[in-house]
Amino acid sequence: MSKKRVLSCIQPTGEIHLGNYFGAIRNWVNIQDQYDCIYGVVDLHAMTMPYKADELEENTLQMVVDLLVCGIDPDKTILFIQSLVPQHTELTWIFNCITSYGELTRMTQFKDKTEQSESNIKGKFISAGLFTYPILQAADILIYRANYVPVGIDQVQHLELSRNIAVRFNKNYGNYFPEPEPLLTDIPKLVSLADPTKKMSKSLDEKHYIGLFEEESSIRKKVKSAVTDTGDQQGNKMSPGVENLFNLIKACNKEKEHNELLKQHKAGTLKYKDLKEVTADALVELTTGFITRRNEITGDEKNIKNLAKTLSEKAGDIAAKTIRDVRSLVGLPV
Ligand code: TRP
Repeated sequence: MSKKRVLSCIQPTGEIHLGNYFGAIRNWVNIQDQYDCIYGVVDLHAMTMPYKADELEENTLQMVVDLLVCGIDPDKTILFIQSLVPQHTELTWIFNCITSYGELTRMTQFKDKTEQSESNIKGKFISAGLFTYPILQAADILIYRANYVPVGIDQVQHLELSRNIAVRFNKNYGNYFPEPEPLLTDIPKLVSLADPTKKMSKSLDEKHYIGLFEEESSIRKKVKSAVTDTGDQQGNKMSPGVENLFNLIKACNKEKEHNELLKQHKAGTLKYKDLKEVTADALVELTTGFITRRNEITGDEKNIKNLAKTLSEKAGDIAAKTIRDVRSLVGLPV
């Protein structure tokens, strides 16, 4: 029996942070044996918002490196750069023609991105690419005829649109695409150390996240100044900041330490200083491993670019077959 196919993608946002790692990438790494995995760095999606042309390619290659460092194994998994597989954009056009304007206007991410206070400023440029973004995403998924898509909760609506596009295509032109399903996994809920009411995200400034390759001193400083509470919480009650530190320790697989500290918390004897020290130690151990691995594989940018090209060609072979089938189904010459 052949393995089911998994497809997921990430935007080249620059250096990965621990929120990305624990929230998505670690899971991508863990399922590489179980599924036929294809992962992409979506540079075309990154063009939907204002960006700097002289940084895009560098960020894209950096993301490839980061994914390799995290444990994506090019012997098992296809890791492609979206723009190097031009069939994605060809399929996007065909999907453009079977997606309704109304469906796109209901996408909450588009509304969020365009209605945010900052972008709301009169005259702010909103690209058509941002509007049709989810159609390109559907093409990313369906061009590989993927069965599962590991996504976070914020992408569930986009995935639903992809399913609708698949269903509509199949109805109009004949059954061809599988309906991709979300692969929901248990992901730790991690928030900003500086403000536990916010997600750990790069759109906030750097005190809100910890980078994959962050230095020890900087991590210790951030953890030390992490928001907890005044220590007046008792019993099983935990403030969001304290809970976040516990979640971080657990995410780093420090079960033993986690349980010991939890016992202390229940007994009301926990010192936040100890909690923070264990958190910082666990994070430093993790990032030190990443730094070591990064040093092993970088310095060799040309090879990485070649590797990305070779893997993208592999993706292109699959994509080309889909496009041939699709062209003939929709009435285009092949
Ligand atoms: N929109 C996704 C995000 O911002 C990235 C993405 C693009 C994606 N294409 C995809 C995710 C296909 C899953 C499958 O996170």
